[in-house]
Amino acid sequence: MDSFAIETKSLNKVFITKTGFWKNKSKSTMAVEDISFSVERGELFGLLGPNGAGKTTTVKMLTTLLLPTGGTAKILGMDVVKQTAEVRKHIGFAFSGSRGLYNRLTAFQNLKYFAELYSLKDDFANKRIPMLLDLVGLADRADDRVETYSSGMTQRLHLARALLHDPEVLFLDEPTVGIDPVGSRDLRKTIKNLLSLGKTILLTTHYMAEAEELCHRIAIVKKGNIVALDTPDALKRRISGESVIEASIQSDQIQVLIDKLKVLDQRTVITHDTTTEPEKLCIRTTEPGRVLELLSPYLNPQYILNLEARSQTLEDVYIAIIQGDQA
Ligand SMILES: Nc1ncnc2c1ncn2[C@@H]1O[C@H](COP(=O)(O)OP(=O)(O)OP(=O)(O)O)[C@@H](O)[C@H]1O
Ligand SMILES: [Mg+2]
Repeated sequence: MDSFAIETKSLNKVFITKTGFWKNKSKSTMAVEDISFSVERGELFGLLGPNGAGKTTTVKMLTTLLLPTGGTAKILGMDVVKQTAEVRKHIGFAFSGSRGLYNRLTAFQNLKYFAELYSLKDDFANKRIPMLLDLVGLADRADDRVETYSSGMTQRLHLARALLHDPEVLFLDEPTVGIDPVGSRDLRKTIKNLLSLGKTILLTTHYMAEAEELCHRIAIVKKGNIVALDTPDALKRRISGESVIEASIQSDQIQVLIDKLKVLDQRTVITHDTTTEPEKLCIRTTEPGRVLELLSPYLNPQYILNLEARSQTLEDVYIAIIQGDQA
């Protein structure tokens, strides 16, 4: 019982794909370069990182769905390559998307099918399936075909499937993608319940608030390598002493304002969020007084609609790390 729940050492995956008209050329992609981490039993460990960073590839190697090119990975002390069958008995996994479920079957029939695949005893499955459908909030749609489900409902069914054989270690790849806010909150509650039952969970997500709320420790992955690994609080402390100032701006004046801020110390990081309405400038700085001084002449509806200082969030740290200045 002294092994880690999950342990990887220098895990590496290179994909070789055939390209060219005659498929006579090959291209290699280093999806995972060198990933090492250990997860304690009962821990909730998060993998964060940009699209294409290698998170899903890592999870697929840990769940025996992909063979590593190099390095080792163990689940509960068992090697994922040498003891595949044994590992599979102890893990559950849920990936986002509709693959892995039978669209023409109902939710109940899908779970029944997978229960048989896992060789679960009938009376165990017959009790567990309704319980799981209830747990993921699908009890009232249990007899509808999966093809009639919304993406959030499909996602919930993936989780139920992952829990069928009551595995000790769970891998959840973006579990709340496409799930509405109330559903996501329920799902986070479910995840916490699973933790209180002693499960170990590895989760990937792009939602920083979710990672902050759930994860005991977080590894930030960039281009196939871990560039930071710590508790959410410790990660946030890395950039303590810095402040965040957010300015809601008129988008046609953005450059004028950025130019005004060029005199700030080089460690200042300015990000421009175009996804909000109005757009936002986010200034991470050790000189908050100076920023306010520089921007206050522009605090009128023609330039800046609103200016506020706020405390650091995990998202600020993530952006700082991914942009390279904290790695
Ligand atoms: N089957 C495959 N064949 C070739 N390349 C692949 C394959 N699967 C993944 N890759 C490549 O490996 C890299 C890592 O992909 P991966 O899916 O692990 O990223 P990710 O961190 O999960 O990203 P996202 O946040 O978008 O889910 C990418 O460059 C991707 O194109
Ligand atoms: Mg992924």
